[in-house]
Amino acid sequence: MTSSTPDPTPTGAIPLIPAPDRASATHAVPEDTVVATLPSPAEDPHWYRTAVFYEVLTHAFMDSNHDGIGDFEGLRSKLDYLQWLGVDALWLPPFYPSPMADGGYDISDYTGIDERYGTMDDFRTLVADAHERGIRIVIDMVMNHTSDQHPWFQASRTDPSGPYGDFYVWRDRPSEYLDARVIFVDTEDSNWSWDEVRGQFFWHRFFSHQPDLNFENPAVREAVKNVLRFWADTGVDGFRLDAIPYLYEEDGTNCENLLPTHDFIAELRQMVDDEYPGTVLIAEANQPPHEVVAYFGTDAAPECHVCFHFPIMPKIFAALREETSKGVREVLAETPPLPKGGQWGTFLRNHDELTLEMVTEEERQKMYAWYAPEPRMRANVGIRRRLMPLLRGSRREVELAHALLLSFPGSPFLYYGDEIGMGDDIWLNDRDGVRTPMQWDDSPGAGYSTADPESFYLPLISSGMYRPTAVNVAEHRTRPTSMLNWLRSMLQIRRKYPVFGIGSLTLVATSDDAVLAFLRRDERQSVLCVNNLSTTSRSARLQLPGMAGWHLYDAASGNRFPDVREDETVDITLGRHGFYWLDVTFLDEEKDDEDQ
Ligand code: BGC
Repeated sequence: MTSSTPDPTPTGAIPLIPAPDRASATHAVPEDTVVATLPSPAEDPHWYRTAVFYEVLTHAFMDSNHDGIGDFEGLRSKLDYLQWLGVDALWLPPFYPSPMADGGYDISDYTGIDERYGTMDDFRTLVADAHERGIRIVIDMVMNHTSDQHPWFQASRTDPSGPYGDFYVWRDRPSEYLDARVIFVDTEDSNWSWDEVRGQFFWHRFFSHQPDLNFENPAVREAVKNVLRFWADTGVDGFRLDAIPYLYEEDGTNCENLLPTHDFIAELRQMVDDEYPGTVLIAEANQPPHEVVAYFGTDAAPECHVCFHFPIMPKIFAALREETSKGVREVLAETPPLPKGGQWGTFLRNHDELTLEMVTEEERQKMYAWYAPEPRMRANVGIRRRLMPLLRGSRREVELAHALLLSFPGSPFLYYGDEIGMGDDIWLNDRDGVRTPMQWDDSPGAGYSTADPESFYLPLISSGMYRPTAVNVAEHRTRPTSMLNWLRSMLQIRRKYPVFGIGSLTLVATSDDAVLAFLRRDERQSVLCVNNLSTTSRSARLQLPGMAGWHLYDAASGNRFPDVREDETVDITLGRHGFYWLDVTFLDEEKDDEDQ
């Protein structure tokens, strides 16, 4: 069946999503809205390679209509803040109608909006206003599975021979695909669940209320493409493709990264390139580097523009406890080269658990011991805590972690609230502890909402050190030395150095294993990044072959450091958890002046 097949259901109440009518597609924004001042895709096709992304949960950010739940209008009212902070793009996790049994990743209507967040007009206005401020919008596309409340699933279970009968993966016995791991080990013990109504088992890689769509069915593939078309027509700049390794199944494999899965992603890419040029696809594929890199596709069949780099993240956290650069150096060395136009997406934290799927069992146990000593701090194969509490409230460690994130190859993805060092609540369920309301000020509703805090979708953080009266944006903004102002200045420096997004990385040999040094270079800029991973001050000798006599300037202050010696070494001294970004140049400005 294809999307043009008439819907034979009696009421026609569960339409396949039709392909938008291209002739009348308008990117319609309400009339009084000023439309996009961002460079067009043709003018800036590689914007995502130098961008800083900011993940923001719509319901967690700002409540404009006093119901205790954040909404598009609230988020729109904070665009000035986000522009001030200096982010280039927002990633909005799902805001579609959903029973919210998995934070909205359980979608029950792909082309709707949860009415608590606003209307389609509100969404379009948000996109247009963000564009006006030079901020792009990327939305989440969960295509591997739907909620079991989705009308497609309801039809599939009640009418096996109807048009949706084959939309999901149904079997009489749960005997296939047994080599596929269970991902949500805390709640599920199998990827098959029994459905009483249909009298068959259905396949699901995540929660049992999230049946996987059957991508073998061409009608499913067409429906998914039409969902992307629908949202691309609103003017969004890209899609984060959720959980893409699991689209297809094949017996005798682990059912991850299969060829037909790649073929379909390439088909999606072809579609956006043809119909919505410049729209960016971001792969959420929690896989080892050699598997992840396949989601960039090939020259002949490109897939995603950006792939999240999962393995590097836990290595940053491990390095801070082991006080050695070994693990980070290894993962950087193992990272395959990027194909032309590709970019890594890097991150410290996000709305999920800090995943430990990409580390060895020994490393995992160490990470639990360092970062999640209490069982309540763990979820599935990971740690459900926010950045500041993870790093023991140490501002220096949080700064160093950000310095690494912002200088490693890739486009960094920040997580809302981490810019002020928000805390978490390990007493909340699942991953909710890291999804609490944004803390804007010290008022009773934290400036997030004027509703009774009892009615908030989740409680505000109440623990002493992290409560809104102690940690909030207003206080951070007025204090010049705050984390927020520090991060903002780092983003300003990063903006002056596109090399961080597009340059090569060369590891630099140092005399001290606790000092991680690397060079980021392109034709125009060279930056030497030196990081002290230890809790004590260090002085290290760096080897810089071919750079004798080059000059070093601190990128933050412009202050000159000692030149690289004739023997191609330089000594750098750093305080505990200190770091430098040193602009390296062989041009001697003073000497040039004398010569003139
Ligand atoms: C999302 C999770 C979600 C899962 C299942 C993940 O990739 O980031 O939040 O629970 O997909 O939808």
